Amino acid sequence: MDRNEAIERAKEHFGRLIEEQFDRIEMMKAGKEWVDYRTLKPIIIGICWGDGIGRIISKHAQRVLEYMLREEIASGVVEFRVIKGLTIENRARVGKAIPDDVLEEIKNCHVILKGPTTTPRAGDEWPNIESANVAMRRELDLFANVRPVKIPAEGIDWCFFRENTEGAYVLGSRGIDVTEDLSIDFKVLTEQGAERIIRMAFEHAKNNGLKRVTAVTKSNVVKTTDGRFSRMAKKIAEEYKGFGIEQDEWYIDIMTAKLLDPARRGDFEVLVLPNLYGDILTDEAAQLQGGVGTAGSANIGKRWAMFEAIHGSAPRMVAEGRDIYADPSSMIRASAMLLRHTGFPERAVQLDMAIDICGQSEHKIVITGRDTGATGEELTTALLKWVDDPDLEKEWKKFAEA
Ligand code: IPM
Ligand code: MG
Repeated sequence: MDRNEAIERAKEHFGRLIEEQFDRIEMMKAGKEWVDYRTLKPIIIGICWGDGIGRIISKHAQRVLEYMLREEIASGVVEFRVIKGLTIENRARVGKAIPDDVLEEIKNCHVILKGPTTTPRAGDEWPNIESANVAMRRELDLFANVRPVKIPAEGIDWCFFRENTEGAYVLGSRGIDVTEDLSIDFKVLTEQGAERIIRMAFEHAKNNGLKRVTAVTKSNVVKTTDGRFSRMAKKIAEEYKGFGIEQDEWYIDIMTAKLLDPARRGDFEVLVLPNLYGDILTDEAAQLQGGVGTAGSANIGKRWAMFEAIHGSAPRMVAEGRDIYADPSSMIRASAMLLRHTGFPERAVQLDMAIDICGQSEHKIVITGRDTGATGEELTTALLKWVDDPDLEKEWKKFAEA
């Protein structure tokens, strides 16, 4: 291919991507009202089990949710729907990140509990289709990926607001090999996309009496997109000064170090960050809490929300026959977030306490991911016992306030 031809082809490709982003901006501007779960009857909870360890740990989470909501299920306030088609086999067969009929089933629910799904990469046994997570976040416009990490005994209570529909991800499968020597990916940030995630982080701080929102970027180097994110954080901070909320900015590299600094890390409260930095930093934070297997997340949009683990499907654990030892806490934590989001906050608190007790207190159920530790089922059973234990709160306070 000659140079000019390659340039023309790349320009056309870029042009199409820009058109799509213009459309997305229009959609964001048109806005939609937030769904009010109190007006829905029933609230439909869809469950996608996922792949790999997802097939096991999401069933544990389903068991927990069905238990927590047993009265609502019986009275028809809540309905569960199992959506079976979101498997790597089915996705590979159709050649789509989310097959059309599955997407329709998902959209017919109000919230989704989703197990980890396998994300193919070049050279795998699977066709190199887009990640189901990324596709679902985009298709349902789930712009906020909220990831709490708590270590009560160390005074750590972080809430990460990861931008979920832009950044390096949204066109991650749409980069271009301009020639055989040149590859270019695209990173996207819009005014509307930055505003809505940063505003949500500040609202969270305001509603929870928190005093600090930290933006994490690399705006000194990635000047255009991260620069916009940084400007927006400063702009919105002005509006929240009256609530005594201060805003600061850290670069992603030093931030990864500061999370390891026992003298400083307890000071962070709310962190808001572009997609890829959020992906990376939340794995690190989760590791400090006990491993990625302990961290859940809420993917929130105005109309739908999806709750999932922060980690992947761990095919290696399955191949080595260790899937029954996988930690379901991530999915159960995500279930607590689902309860809170759909209007059952007391039950969310109960479940969170039970997870903390089983994960971090003297009553900890040790999970090692192998036969040296408990199985996911054993943990789930123990956790459900705590939920109903009259001493739940007392036990939780005993270790959390120690
Ligand atoms: C996450 C995961 C996903 C991501 C993968 C599975 C596509 O790592 O939810 O953090 O990168 O967002
Ligand atoms: Mg990740």
